[in-house]
Amino acid sequence: MADRHYRIAVIGGDGIGPEVTDQGLKALAAASDRSGFTVETNHYDLGGARYLRTGEVLPDTVEAELAGHDAILLGAVGTPDVPPGVLERGLLLRLRFDFDLYVNLRPVKLLPGVPTPIAGLVPDRCDMLIARENTEGAYTGSGGTIRMGTPHEVALQESINTRLGVERVTRFAFEQAAARRGHLTLCHKTNVLTYAGDLWYRTLTELAERYPDVTTDYVHVDAMCLYMVTSPERFDVVVTDNLFGDIVTDLGAAIQGGMGLAASGNLNPEGRFPSLFEPVHGSAPDITGRGWANPVAAVLTVAMCLSHLGEHESASIVEDGVAAVLPTMESMGGPDMGATTDQLGDRIAAAVAEG
Ligand code: NAD
Ligand code: IPM
Ligand code: MN
Repeated sequence: MADRHYRIAVIGGDGIGPEVTDQGLKALAAASDRSGFTVETNHYDLGGARYLRTGEVLPDTVEAELAGHDAILLGAVGTPDVPPGVLERGLLLRLRFDFDLYVNLRPVKLLPGVPTPIAGLVPDRCDMLIARENTEGAYTGSGGTIRMGTPHEVALQESINTRLGVERVTRFAFEQAAARRGHLTLCHKTNVLTYAGDLWYRTLTELAERYPDVTTDYVHVDAMCLYMVTSPERFDVVVTDNLFGDIVTDLGAAIQGGMGLAASGNLNPEGRFPSLFEPVHGSAPDITGRGWANPVAAVLTVAMCLSHLGEHESASIVEDGVAAVLPTMESMGGPDMGATTDQLGDRIAAAVAEG
């Protein structure tokens, strides 16, 4: 029988990160009590507070410890007290790159009973899975600044696209599509980014021959934003570049009903490194410390983690726990939720415990 003991590293991080992660952990504990698996959670003090105290973002020794876990749960990183990029690049992107978390999987699915800003949209018209490339594109940090501070200053920020990087995320997306409704869309900007776009498009076309049961199509990213709002039913699985994927998944969260609903998994599909699960949202400094953060995204992130660990039944139980509590919420975040972050976490955990 498979060993059902999991070592999970927890990085609450900044702002609302720790507030919502605590709620995810309550649901995890309830699921573990119910389903008979055991969890060891190890908390890591990383983020803005540690950086301001010690100057450290992610010491090598800590990264090596993280690598020894079965999965990582992260709340959010980034705070106005630290210059932009220090924590985001130094912690989150470093883990994505060093642990080769080459797929960022972000479901965009309407949850029953949650109002969507898209008038008249019914749940079965929007159920898509966005597979965002997560290790290259504009995110690698390739580039630089010359003649800084002069009128002739130049800033270069290059987008790196490798055959290996494009092919592996596209292959992953084909596999997902084959297991779902059998349709894969490439989202890019081939009409302007002709070099990168050509590599992505050729890769899609070549791999398509190996997946005769999956139909494919292509949309430019600007039109993608239009169709996500007007006709989301045209999408099943979508594969896209790192930066486009970042942008369209915030739109996806809005379509779902709010930033506090969208979950994601940064995956190393081969399991050479632990995968990292986090809400799509950030540290939300504008609402930190008030009990206004919607914990649902963080809880659904735990469900994605359980699914990745092979605990599919528990993942469904956690999703059902969320579904039971959503109708009790008066809004999807902010002062008018009808309950605090913590109270909602308790309610969801109770629903998970009861089943
Ligand atoms: P954000 O996602 O933190 O916030 C955008 C808006 O959504 C804000 O109005 C916020 O109040 C709201 N919001 C976010 N999560 C919510 C929740 N759970 N419930 C209710 N409302 C919620 O994005 P931002 O303001 O652009 O970024 C803030 C910081 O977070 C920056 O430092 C950024 O770099 C960082 N960030 C981190 C991650 C991550 O760690 N995964 C992701 C995105 C942004
Ligand atoms: C996300 C975030 C990150 C990204 C930032 C914090 C580096 O916005 O996970 O969506 O751009 O990927
Ligand atoms: Mn983002």
